[in-house]
Amino acid sequence: MNPFFLPQEDIKNLVAEHGTPIYVASRSQIIENYRRLDDSLPALTLFYAVKANPHPGILKALVGIGAGFDVASRGEIEAVLAAGADAREDLIFADTVKDPKHIQQATAVGLDDFTFDNFSEITQIARFAPGANVHVRIRVSNKGSVAKLSEKFGAEPSYAVPLLKAARDQGLFPRGVSFHVGSQCLQVERYIEALDLVRNIFDKAAAEGINLSMVDIGGGFPVQYENEKIDIKAMGRTISNHYMSLFDENVMLVAEPGRAVVGDAVSLVTKVISESVRDGRNWLYFDDGTYGSFLDVLLYRMKYPMKGLTDGPPTPYVLAGPTCDCIDVFSRDAKGEICTVDLPEMHLDDLLVAGSMGAYTYAESTRFNGFEPPKFVYID
Ligand SMILES: Cc1ncc(COP(=O)(O)O)c(C=O)c1O
Repeated sequence: MNPFFLPQEDIKNLVAEHGTPIYVASRSQIIENYRRLDDSLPALTLFYAVKANPHPGILKALVGIGAGFDVASRGEIEAVLAAGADAREDLIFADTVKDPKHIQQATAVGLDDFTFDNFSEITQIARFAPGANVHVRIRVSNKGSVAKLSEKFGAEPSYAVPLLKAARDQGLFPRGVSFHVGSQCLQVERYIEALDLVRNIFDKAAAEGINLSMVDIGGGFPVQYENEKIDIKAMGRTISNHYMSLFDENVMLVAEPGRAVVGDAVSLVTKVISESVRDGRNWLYFDDGTYGSFLDVLLYRMKYPMKGLTDGPPTPYVLAGPTCDCIDVFSRDAKGEICTVDLPEMHLDDLLVAGSMGAYTYAESTRFNGFEPPKFVYID
């Protein structure tokens, strides 16, 4: 179940046992999210993007249902192997910027699938993972998505075939094409346009004697935060129908979802540890903040659903974290300015629950000021 909807008494009991801040996580929700995607995109292999949340309990739950994993570093490879994944069968090294030491370690454990988007990466992969399978990542429109990954990643589609030929010339095995429509993508058209570009690259590559066999549609599948209208099944069906109109069954469809697998399967419970009035506004200070779980409020203006576990009248509050930096404030408007949010009246020791806190929270939290990330409590 989505732990945001756990009864208040249950949350208070978890806090009495484990303290705060804690992540309350549901394995069954993670598995349901994974299966929903898997079922709506037939013949699909899913590689969970470990970067979204590498907590061992999450990785183990996904290994248990046969998931694959998209990894971005030596640390992520070690984490999924420790959880029981098989390096050759289950892993894609999908970061296009790879430290050679990490390529070497990947090769040493048997990982043999790498994504790239420039000529220098081909040289690095050929040097440290000779003969490996490679996929070229192309730049596609990220319009309407929250994290615009195409600003940093993806070769221009017109470079894809020259890149694939260069990979072949250096002894690598060009296997496919990948893209990422941007994280928290709310417009399914982005996948449709991108698939059309990939079809074109498949045809041009075939004319050069390169027969590709894999399309990797990346991540981007969205999570419910506020009032977004999200229907993953419908999105999957639309992508799937278009995919089947372009490619035959010999071409493998792959995806690397992160956010949509873990996002709504984890809530954060944090406690008021201090309060004040500043410039006429009420401030609440919590034991977690933007250097912990709420970094994406600063980076991407994320707005998480929140509720205070008290019964007081609605009251506007500025919400801040515990560190000694002024940027550690997680109630912010669309421009990133500090604002208030309405919560029931709250005071010292009261609890705040933030929902949809599974993706890019724990994974991005820092050790600034000596604060540790919240601990995980699994409810099922
Ligand atoms: C290469 C790659 N694949 C997959 C993902 C996961 O994306 P999402 O969490 O939007 O599903 C990312 C996110 O940054 C990525 O960089």
